Amino acid sequence: MQRFLSSTQVAPVLTRHPLKTKLCSLMLALLATTHAIADTLVIKADALVDVENNTVLSAPLVIVENNIIRYVGKQGSQTIPDDAQVLDLSGHTLLPGLMDMHVHLTSDANLHGYRRLKVSTPRSAITGVKNAQSTLMAGFTTVRNVGAPGYADVALRDAINEGDVLGPRMYVSGPSIGVTGGHCDNNLLPFEYDVQSEGVADGPWAVRTKVRQNIKYGADVIKFCATGGVLSKGTKVGAQQFSFEEMQALITEAHLRGLTVAAHAHGTSGIKDAIRAGVDSIEHGSFLDDEAIALAKKMGTYLSMDIYVTEYILGEGEKAGILEESLAKERTVGKRQRDNFTKALNAGVKMVFGSDAGVYPHGDNARQLSRMVRFGMTPMQAIQAATIHSADLLGKAKLIGSVSEGKLADIIAVKGDVMADMTLLEHVQVVIKDGVIVKK
Ligand code: ARG
Repeated sequence: MQRFLSSTQVAPVLTRHPLKTKLCSLMLALLATTHAIADTLVIKADALVDVENNTVLSAPLVIVENNIIRYVGKQGSQTIPDDAQVLDLSGHTLLPGLMDMHVHLTSDANLHGYRRLKVSTPRSAITGVKNAQSTLMAGFTTVRNVGAPGYADVALRDAINEGDVLGPRMYVSGPSIGVTGGHCDNNLLPFEYDVQSEGVADGPWAVRTKVRQNIKYGADVIKFCATGGVLSKGTKVGAQQFSFEEMQALITEAHLRGLTVAAHAHGTSGIKDAIRAGVDSIEHGSFLDDEAIALAKKMGTYLSMDIYVTEYILGEGEKAGILEESLAKERTVGKRQRDNFTKALNAGVKMVFGSDAGVYPHGDNARQLSRMVRFGMTPMQAIQAATIHSADLLGKAKLIGSVSEGKLADIIAVKGDVMADMTLLEHVQVVIKDGVIVKK
């Protein structure tokens, strides 16, 4: 197994011959089955954040065989195999690879408003290649991509999985589903140009068809727009868009096929109807009220609240092309969203980490972690939101989300004591994805 992959190695990875690759993997597979020789990586550090047991382990030793974590314990508790590669990270804290449940890798944070009109789907896929790499290098080994035109996210996910480009493990939605003229439609042009986003559907059967179409073309998850939004032209951020009947049809169809559903929802009634219809996660959740919080708690619905992005929109948004009407909406949304984040947290609603990176630059995802602490989480809760809770929302908690025996080796390291300073996560020093050291 190739253990190191630095950026200088990206080129050979891109240009390798497909037949050679096939032969190589065949030989490796043969070797693995006939000799069962494991490629062993041993990691030592000062501390390990154990998100499953709510503790920090000091002087940890982690043993990785190929891409699987085989042992987690104290240094000195295991003899290190002679042929193992040792990664000595003294002064560092180990954590599970971070997970972001709300990104748009194919979007450029500098192209908002009318600037978006010049971006073709192929161009957005290429933008995605760059953003996938910066996201991974920032320590995010898994993302959920919720909304991309033209299935560019499906192509990017597949290219990453096939080893053609470097990026996080992606779970993708394809185009977001929404009503005519709603947040997930394109409302920038007048009637005579008649542009409509691919995910637009009105009525219960039409939305079921869109779900089926997204599954047909490769979606892992379904995203829909329950209410208006900040960055869409002409939508009222608090107003409900899909009816309860439509949401119920959409969610039932997705669940029937084994997919989870994420609802963009700022407005109170849209949040409640989405929860009542069985949605798996509420995105944004800005205007939650007490009843919505109680409903989310009762139904076990996850909240994915992007409480950092308001700083970027109000600080840099105008330069990035965000429309004045969107800036005005953001001025009403940001503060209420942060207040309601604290309220929902105190009520014990389940929360994941979702940043909306793509609206702001990819790679800066982790800036939200310190805000989650500022608005009420303990450092452990914020890290759990971005690891095991996110893995649970994806239905992948057996596979990823913690540094535990039997899971995939998605491990990061930061210098110093992350529990004392969450901003250390904005400077991740070491990234291991699926057993491969991608940054060191
Ligand atoms: N994509 C979201 C929207 O347009 C961004 C919301 C950002 N604002 C916030 N406070 N989270 O609605």
